[in-house]
Amino acid sequence: MDHFSLVDGQLFAEQVPLARIAEEVGTPVYVYSRATLERHADVFREGLAGVARKHLAFAVKSNPNLAVLKVLAGRGYGADVVSGGELDRALAAGIAAQDIVFSGVGKTEAEMRHALSLDIGQFNIESEEECQMLAAVAASMGLTARASLRINPDVDAGTHAKISTGKADNKFGVGLHVGPGIYQRLSALPGIALRGVAVHIGSQLLSLDPLEAAFGKIGELVAHLRSEGHVITHVDLGGGLGVPYQAATEPPSPADYGALVARVTRDWDATIQFEPGRVIAGNAGVLLTRVIRVKPGIRDPFVVVDAAMNDLARPALYDAWHDFEAVHPDGTRMMANIVGPVCESGDTFAMGRDIDTVSAGDLAIFRTAGAYGATMASSYNSRGIVAEVLVDGDRYAVVANRISPAEIMAAETVPAWL
Ligand code: LLP
Repeated sequence: MDHFSLVDGQLFAEQVPLARIAEEVGTPVYVYSRATLERHADVFREGLAGVARKHLAFAVKSNPNLAVLKVLAGRGYGADVVSGGELDRALAAGIAAQDIVFSGVGKTEAEMRHALSLDIGQFNIESEEECQMLAAVAASMGLTARASLRINPDVDAGTHAKISTGKADNKFGVGLHVGPGIYQRLSALPGIALRGVAVHIGSQLLSLDPLEAAFGKIGELVAHLRSEGHVITHVDLGGGLGVPYQAATEPPSPADYGALVARVTRDWDATIQFEPGRVIAGNAGVLLTRVIRVKPGIRDPFVVVDAAMNDLARPALYDAWHDFEAVHPDGTRMMANIVGPVCESGDTFAMGRDIDTVSAGDLAIFRTAGAYGATMASSYNSRGIVAEVLVDGDRYAVVANRISPAEIMAAETVPAWL
């Protein structure tokens, strides 16, 4: 459920007409709904009511906007970060260092040192090599890093290949069979306190089966590690729950997911950690755009909007579907291709789509753009970086200014010798 709906024939974000935001802030612009973010955060937590000891860390990569992070911090969420930049954002939004988990295959020594100096909650380490480096860096600082070992359970998540992370040939984690050896070799190292295991098999999962398969393997590994004398207090089950980009898609509900987790982890006697991103932020944001013109095509017309692949990369990267709706629908429909102004054919949001009739100057939204939307924007084609707005009831604020092409150009220099 979200708070973007038609009232008296026009689309609102909570109680704010989207047309007003377009008028005052310009387009394209991402619009987030605070009430939707909070609702999703609460529903996800309630779904996990059957899990006794848990820790929720929002996957910052899905929407790192400071205001969004602040809203989620207010709902008791920590942060799952994958870079020093995300770590600093989480802290700036008021998330306690202890509630931050640092994931990712390529943490640098500098990032480790930075995170250690802040005393973050946990590092999720993805290789023996990384573990050795972390232990050495921490020991050199006279500190001990709390860490979990990310396991690659070799499970097919049944999602798009580019967002699948738990197959053996993906770069993430270490194989199940090598986990015990790493624990044996490294758990006694000074500078590191290996205390758990982590798993994340992919994103936009539409079935619980691969998660159940992965969690089952993790449960066996935890038992095995304990039988070898290791103390396992934490298990991180990652994120991954899908959202309905189309009405026909029915991802498992947070309640179904929570029931599975409660059943599978019942005897684990550990704090269970979660890293949800999309399921919290996805439907809490739309990309508001204006139709520049409609030009004829061989079959269907091309609706050229002022948002492009540089603003919302998901369709170009993952063939993703985002519902398209007019802000002032007149009740009629048209078949159209929806494209942006960027000069490559990949800049296509939809082909042969049945949409609300729109014409030049009309406003429209791409739905379910709150996760992996603005954060993946670029300035390709020397376009600006898209603005972001947060709505709260009948008020809104610009929470990320548009960065103009001139500002981007100002960061460049031409050497005097040219
Ligand atoms: N934890 C880890 C270790 C992850 O790698 C991810 C996502 C998450 C948690 C959050 O997953 P979520 O709950 O959002 O599914 N840009 C792509 C998605 C990339 C996901 C990367 N990892 C997209 O637009 O679909």
